[in-house]
Amino acid sequence: MGFVLGCDYNYEQWSPDVWREDMALMREAGVGLVAVNVFGWSEIEPRPGEYDFSALDEIVGLLHDSGIRLNLGTGTASPPPWLTRRHPDALPVTADGTTRFPGGRQAWCPSSPVFREHALRLVEQVAVRYGQHPALELWHVSNELGCHNALCYCEASAAAFRVWLTRRYGTVEALNKAWGTAFWSQRYADFDEVQPPRLALSVRNPAQLVDFQRFSSDALLDHYRAEAAVLRRHSTTKITTNFMVTAHIRNQDYWSWAADMDVIANDHYLDHRLPDPVAELSFAADLTRGLAGGRPWMLMETSTGAVNWQPYNLAKEPGQLVRNSLTHVARGADAICFFQWRASAQGAEKFHSAIVPHAGVDSAVWREVLELSETLDKIGEVAGSTVEADTALVFSWESWWATETEARPSQDLRYLDQVHAAYRALRELGVTTDIIAPGSDLSGYRAVVVPCLHMVSDQEAAAVTDYVESGGRAVITFYSGIVDPDDRVRLGGYPGAFRELLGVVSEEFAPLLPGQEVPLATGGQATLWTERLRLTTAKPELAYANGTPAVTRNAFGAGEAWYVSTNLAAPDLRALFERALTAQEAARPEHQDLWKRATDAQTNGERAPDVQNDGDRAARGHSDLWKRASELRDGQLATEVVRRGAYLFVVNHGDVDIEYAVAGHELVTGQAAIGSVLVPAGAVRVVREES
Ligand code: GLA
Repeated sequence: MGFVLGCDYNYEQWSPDVWREDMALMREAGVGLVAVNVFGWSEIEPRPGEYDFSALDEIVGLLHDSGIRLNLGTGTASPPPWLTRRHPDALPVTADGTTRFPGGRQAWCPSSPVFREHALRLVEQVAVRYGQHPALELWHVSNELGCHNALCYCEASAAAFRVWLTRRYGTVEALNKAWGTAFWSQRYADFDEVQPPRLALSVRNPAQLVDFQRFSSDALLDHYRAEAAVLRRHSTTKITTNFMVTAHIRNQDYWSWAADMDVIANDHYLDHRLPDPVAELSFAADLTRGLAGGRPWMLMETSTGAVNWQPYNLAKEPGQLVRNSLTHVARGADAICFFQWRASAQGAEKFHSAIVPHAGVDSAVWREVLELSETLDKIGEVAGSTVEADTALVFSWESWWATETEARPSQDLRYLDQVHAAYRALRELGVTTDIIAPGSDLSGYRAVVVPCLHMVSDQEAAAVTDYVESGGRAVITFYSGIVDPDDRVRLGGYPGAFRELLGVVSEEFAPLLPGQEVPLATGGQATLWTERLRLTTAKPELAYANGTPAVTRNAFGAGEAWYVSTNLAAPDLRALFERALTAQEAARPEHQDLWKRATDAQTNGERAPDVQNDGDRAARGHSDLWKRASELRDGQLATEVVRRGAYLFVVNHGDVDIEYAVAGHELVTGQAAIGSVLVPAGAVRVVREES
């Protein structure tokens, strides 16, 4: 078992003497898995049908001789120039009808039959040649499918979209009904009349936009399946592709992709355009674990330092490479791989960080990679274990698409902002959260948070309702439950699918202007969004200063559902979640004192008592997984605590050392934790708990 340290190796950029140097350095760094041939097409098929595997053979041999396993690319990520020159119709076309040309990467239409044919021919060659190689650990299909070319509006895509629609709807009448084409004279007489939603003079049909997203996600999944089918004919090795569970890529519905992957792999880079990039790292890791069904997953790519594709590409602080990596590990990663091994001297990514930077190995980055490698060895026994969470957050790519179609109530309402806000509140409370698909079985969770689940099917809504009815606790935030999967508004008042569960009728959305604030009765301000709420069975929990309800609470069956109908500032949302999610716990006498102390400590800015260790072990059933001692400083989470199997990860994001109350054996230092462990500023400690 143990953890794997890996990287991408774009050996094509270097000469054979560098390859040899690299093998020695990889061994020194403890690299165990190397991705090659990801962008290899023009090297291995320099002219149509003419293959040259000499360099790849040599690299594969060198890696094998060095005891390094292969994460072998099928090589199809970017077509060679000869292909797009011969077949310009395989190039992608954007929504305005203009072609995107070669010169970058991924210049191919996902629905192009000619691209598919050439790609599969290459995959066959690679599969035959390396399918039985003893070093082969994993097949890496294409690369980040849909990173640039997810939405193509060319004629081949239009034809494939029509086939997809015919399968989905059967008749054009059903399509007309689903898309509401009675509006604006859009009624189709025949599937042949349907186009992809190319740019129009006005707002486009929103149901068509959502279906085009579904189609586009399916088209790339279909491409994955086609490559995987070729590989399976020649090899029994596991197959995957690298997902992009990140803040800026939204075009693949990975819930529908996950089952096709033999192992779930994600690429994650800190995004400094976000208000809290490190919270997003934890969110992405938890979502990736959700895609893996709770099992361990791979971090297929991350950076040692700066990327080169954000407006401002920040270097990592000393210690951050290890800390970020171990946060992924804490949340379920069993492999940490970096893009890339050696920083390029040329090409579009020459200013992207790497394991071997431009400065060479006499560098802090290289030394920190060595430190990570040693640390992964020391904590090796953790690999294979699973993260425990008893709170869930429902996440939906379809709701992301549907929330952000054109002509919505407020252009500042963004799906991911709302999801991140809910997740951050949980994380800052010390709650480890599973991120799950709509419609998932909720029965094992003590609480479920449903942020901005705008598009929801009857069954998906029923999963939440039934869960609450049988004793669960749900917090649902605004713009949830509004439309069905056809993007049709659920009539009778918002929040549509959740109206009865929540015991409210929202008669009207009342979004706010940028900078506009509405005072709350308890102090604090609401921004972005308000609603005109009428309570049917719910009780008001938080009101605006004028006395009208903003947050409500409804007893439903044996459980309770809260509705947050406005956008609260982070501390207010956190306090509200704490109330909503602990109300039930507080009612249990054995927890009451503990919760009160935890809450008081947080309110006073002190470190919260460790619920798990202070608590009666018999009461662990619920409180154990919830509310680990987390500490906030300057509004940011300073101490992040996650349990993975029998191991407690304590991540110190702050700049002061902390003592964390826990008993057991600390794996990074190899020392006993007698009652507490010292976690130096910026460091991570991993304690095998012993009672
Ligand atoms: C993605 C790609 C890599 C590289 C990195 C840079 O993850 O898969 O090829 O471009 O981004 O951050």
